[in-house]
Amino acid sequence: MIALGSDHGGYELKQEVIKYLEEKGLEYKDYGCYSAESCDYPTYGHAVGKAVASGECERGIIICGTGIGISMAANKVPGVRAALCGDVFSAKATREHNDANILAMGARVVGPGLALLIVDTFLNTPFSEGERHIRRIGMIEDIDA
Ligand code: RB5
Repeated sequence: MIALGSDHGGYELKQEVIKYLEEKGLEYKDYGCYSAESCDYPTYGHAVGKAVASGECERGIIICGTGIGISMAANKVPGVRAALCGDVFSAKATREHNDANILAMGARVVGPGLALLIVDTFLNTPFSEGERHIRRIGMIEDIDA
């Protein structure tokens, strides 16, 4: 199950992502927002973060205007590794190296064509299981701010 979330800035792109997931037969749960009316990105970053960290959903995709605010909100939830990606290389590398569990994108940064390639790469790239990557992810988990 893939958790989806956006604010108004990411709403239209989220509809494109939904179409992509439906075409691929992938299950998703949309945590809002549900229209292009102005709303607050922390609400949806938090909701998707909780859904992924609790295990209710395996992965998440979150979108706001830049992808920055909503990823900041999601990353406040312990266990979340949300990666803001604007290119395919980063989407591949963050799965392989960081085992990112949430993809964040900026709808005012990437067009729908690139965004769907990024989504496809994020969903289809496995974690490398490399010892050094496991160690570094553990170090992130252990940070006690
Ligand atoms: C909303 O205007 C915008 O600030 C938001 O979508 C996002 O870019 C915040 O980081």
